[in-house]
Amino acid sequence: MGGYYCLFPCLLVCFLLHTLGSHSLNQTCNPTDLEALLSFSSSLDRKGSRLVGWGPNDTACCSWTGVSCDLGRVVGLDLSNKSLHGGISSAISLLDGLVTLNLSGNSLHGQPPVGLGRLARMRILDLSMNMLSGAFPTSEHGFPAIEVVNVSFNQFKGPHPVFPGAMNLTVLDISSNAFSGGINIMVLCVAPVKALRFSRNKFTGQVLTGFGQCKMLTELSIDSSGLTGNLPSDLYTISELRRLSLRDNLLSGNLGENLGNFSQLIHIDLSYNMFRGIIPDMFGGLRRLEFLNLCSNLLTGTLPASLSSCPMLRVINLRNNSLSGKITIDFRLLPRLIVLDAGANMLSGPIPPDLMWCTELRTLNLGKNMLDGDITESFKNLRSLSHLSLDRNGFTNLSSALRVLQHLPKLTTLVLTKNFHGGETLPMDGINGFKSMQVFVLANCALSGMIPPWLKSMESLRALDLSWNKLNGKIPLWLGNLNDLFYVDLSNNLFSGELPESFTQMKGLISSNSSSEHASMEDFPLFIKKNSCNKGLQYNHVSSFPPSLILSNNLLVGPVLWGLGNLVKLHVLDLGWNNLSGSIPDELSTISSLEELNLTHNGLSGSIPESLAKLTFLSTFDVSYNNLTGLIPAGGQFSTFTNENFVGNAGLCLRWNGPCFGKAPFEEGSDGTDTISAMLTMTYITVEVGFAFGLLTVCNILFFARAWRAAYFLAVDRFFDKLYVMTMVKVNKLTRIWEDKDHL
Ligand SMILES: *[C@@H]1O[C@H](CO)[C@@H](O)[C@H](O)[C@H]1NC(C)=O
Ligand SMILES: *[C@@H]1O[C@H](CO)[C@@H](O)[C@H](O)[C@H]1NC(C)=O
Ligand SMILES: *[C@@H]1O[C@H](CO)[C@@H](O)[C@H](O)[C@H]1NC(C)=O
Ligand SMILES: *[C@@H]1O[C@H](CO)[C@@H](O)[C@H](O)[C@H]1NC(C)=O
Ligand SMILES: *[C@@H]1O[C@H](CO)[C@@H](O)[C@H](O)[C@H]1NC(C)=O
Ligand SMILES: *[C@@H]1O[C@H](CO)[C@@H](O)[C@H](O)[C@H]1NC(C)=O
Ligand SMILES: *[C@@H]1O[C@H](CO)[C@@H](O)[C@H](O)[C@H]1NC(C)=O
Ligand SMILES: *[C@@H]1O[C@H](CO)[C@@H](O)[C@H](O)[C@H]1NC(C)=O
Ligand SMILES: *[C@@H]1O[C@H](CO)[C@@H](O)[C@H](O)[C@H]1NC(C)=O
Ligand SMILES: *[C@@H]1O[C@H](CO)[C@@H](O)[C@H](O)[C@H]1NC(C)=O
Ligand SMILES: *[C@@H]1O[C@H](CO)[C@@H](O)[C@H](O)[C@H]1NC(C)=O
Ligand SMILES: *[C@@H]1O[C@H](CO)[C@@H](O)[C@H](O)[C@H]1NC(C)=O
Repeated sequence: MGGYYCLFPCLLVCFLLHTLGSHSLNQTCNPTDLEALLSFSSSLDRKGSRLVGWGPNDTACCSWTGVSCDLGRVVGLDLSNKSLHGGISSAISLLDGLVTLNLSGNSLHGQPPVGLGRLARMRILDLSMNMLSGAFPTSEHGFPAIEVVNVSFNQFKGPHPVFPGAMNLTVLDISSNAFSGGINIMVLCVAPVKALRFSRNKFTGQVLTGFGQCKMLTELSIDSSGLTGNLPSDLYTISELRRLSLRDNLLSGNLGENLGNFSQLIHIDLSYNMFRGIIPDMFGGLRRLEFLNLCSNLLTGTLPASLSSCPMLRVINLRNNSLSGKITIDFRLLPRLIVLDAGANMLSGPIPPDLMWCTELRTLNLGKNMLDGDITESFKNLRSLSHLSLDRNGFTNLSSALRVLQHLPKLTTLVLTKNFHGGETLPMDGINGFKSMQVFVLANCALSGMIPPWLKSMESLRALDLSWNKLNGKIPLWLGNLNDLFYVDLSNNLFSGELPESFTQMKGLISSNSSSEHASMEDFPLFIKKNSCNKGLQYNHVSSFPPSLILSNNLLVGPVLWGLGNLVKLHVLDLGWNNLSGSIPDELSTISSLEELNLTHNGLSGSIPESLAKLTFLSTFDVSYNNLTGLIPAGGQFSTFTNENFVGNAGLCLRWNGPCFGKAPFEEGSDGTDTISAMLTMTYITVEVGFAFGLLTVCNILFFARAWRAAYFLAVDRFFDKLYVMTMVKVNKLTRIWEDKDHL
């Protein structure tokens, strides 16, 4: 064939071909390369047993898994996602023809060998998603030909890598490591860098300055890095910028008109910062904008009307600012919109009718504003709508709202809490849609009426919250037969009669079933609730709701059904403030996931079953103001409960002949905060340990138990596992939120 003379053109072509995964015809490889590959594999734990086809008896290393060759030299090694454990052998630096090295998605640890940087042809290096640590090995003359470096999701520390001699560097992703110090932008931007991802490291100092040097930059992400100060003006000179993400920092100051200079911008995320002042009405020039997230800042003024000039917009998130005035965006010009979240502002007026042109809209959150008017017929046009949250506004006419919304075939979440000015009645008929509904929340509306029969047709219902209304009548038997229901809050109503027997057979609380999951919007606050540490927890996905039966503050009578013991997945059982009688069934001790049991203010008698001490996740327990007798169980979580959890039971005692509740000396001596174990004069150490355990449980159970909960909710499906982790990361980040008393 062409042979010698076309060696260089061939080389070039082969480099290109190789990225398409083509193999060279020559199966036997260079002996040095063979040697290097063998020592690479032998430095892995379990002798790299996962590397199928790698072995000393086979010299055709060019046909080994993940190896690609050119003219007998190894030029590519792609062992991504191969469950490799162990360190990266320094022999890798013998592969001096290597152009691409991809070891992403393994469990490699330790520091990568310094020799890596001497590979003079290396262009693409992907070590992401491992457990590599130490300093990243770079030197002044290291990686001369490097173009793409991805070391994200490792544990590297020290200064971030720079590649002073590399004139072709275009992509550097070092996110999710522990790099510290400043960002050395001067050195990086000598090369025509296009994408810099620096999120989630430990940088300090004025890390945003100097990026204007990177004239070719199209993507800049520095999320969650403690950045302070204003957006520096030289940033706006990067005219090619397409993606700018600086979320979750401490940036402040105004958003200037200059933002309008990013004419190529597609994605901008400045959420979770401290930007203040008005949102400049400068979107007119951002014709390519698809994603805008400015949520959780201190922005004021009106919604910028010029957003109407961004025809590509898919996501607008302005939640949790102080925006006011009417919604003046012309939605007829935004046909691609799928998310509009302007919740938690001070917007007023009606929902603009032209929003109904956004037929692709999937998520609409206008909750916690001052909007009013009716849900008009035209809502029927929102055929794609899946999540609708309009809570805490002044909307009226629930009957007509439900009659309209039932026509939305994909509606899975509806939150209408705190509307309707009180005084409306939950309609009993005229509704039979809502077939896809999973989360139905209609709390705190002072509604009268009964649980309507049409709820029966919500066959996919998973969470139901009708709390804080004035609903009466019996809790219907069929409610317990809804297969997927696992969160029920009917508290603070006027429900009467006995607990329906069907609640003891609720499938959603006996086994978990996540088959009906849909991907949720990241960062959509579906549900916010205080935990026992009084912090607001944001749940972005229905599967992170704690499985609950909350029926407190009603007029329920009869026994605490022993069959509730079947509900092994239940986390919260709250039956307080009713007129329940009989004893506390022993069977409750089989609800092994139970975290909270509240039976306060009922007429329960008998003793507290000793077996409840087996409930290791129980962090909240309240049987105060009943007619209980006998001894308080010792051990388990009981050592962490306080006097307050038992008061008002005259016959309840700490030990034989010991102090009893209702007897004078006992009540005087305690302030209600001592733990029971303290009163039992256990040793100091035990108390400390018990208390610490209790405290830990109270404050951290949500995390641990939820991680563990995730196992059964979501183990089936890795995808949802990941989604869950994402959600939890967010939840953790947001645990500082204090929500007012509003029930969602
Ligand atoms: C195949 O590889 C061997 C070992 O590197 C080399 O000696 C030989 O020239 C190669 N043959 C071809 C056709 O490239
Ligand atoms: C490799 O060769 C050695 C000696 O020739 C032999 O004992 C061994 O079984 C061979 N291994 C494999 C995997 O073929
Ligand atoms: C490395 O491999 C992973 C998994 O196959 C792939 O997603 C990633 O794009 C590769 N990295 C590079 C830089 O091509
Ligand atoms: C990694 O491998 C697993 C199992 O073989 C597979 O399910 C997953 O999709 C792979 N991930 C990537 C990024 O290739
Ligand atoms: C950088 O890229 C150019 C153009 O692709 C190429 O000619 C040059 O050799 C590369 N530089 C290095 C050091 O690889
Ligand atoms: C780097 O790798 C991570 C994990 O494999 C991946 O999510 C990310 O997109 C990669 N970065 C770039 C710039 O491709
Ligand atoms: C932004 O654009 C305006 C007008 O096009 C120009 O006057 C201004 O200098 C630009 N700002 C920056 C920081 O480049
Ligand atoms: C709302 O934004 C403020 C200001 O940025 C922030 O402090 C608060 O945590 C945010 N609240 C929520 C619920 O995100
Ligand atoms: C609610 O709307 C329906 C139909 O649009 C209407 O007939 C009814 O009178 C309205 N109810 C109230 C209280 O305004
Ligand atoms: C999960 O739900 C689906 C449909 O709702 C049902 O067919 C399936 O039997 C359920 N599986 C379990 C284990 O309950
Ligand atoms: C039990 O519920 C009542 C209200 O229903 C509440 O006041 C009390 O604090 C709860 N007990 C505990 C220990 O949280
Ligand atoms: C409490 O129980 C005792 C006997 O166990 C009974 O005599 C008394 O009437 C009960 N009190 C209440 C308020 O139910």
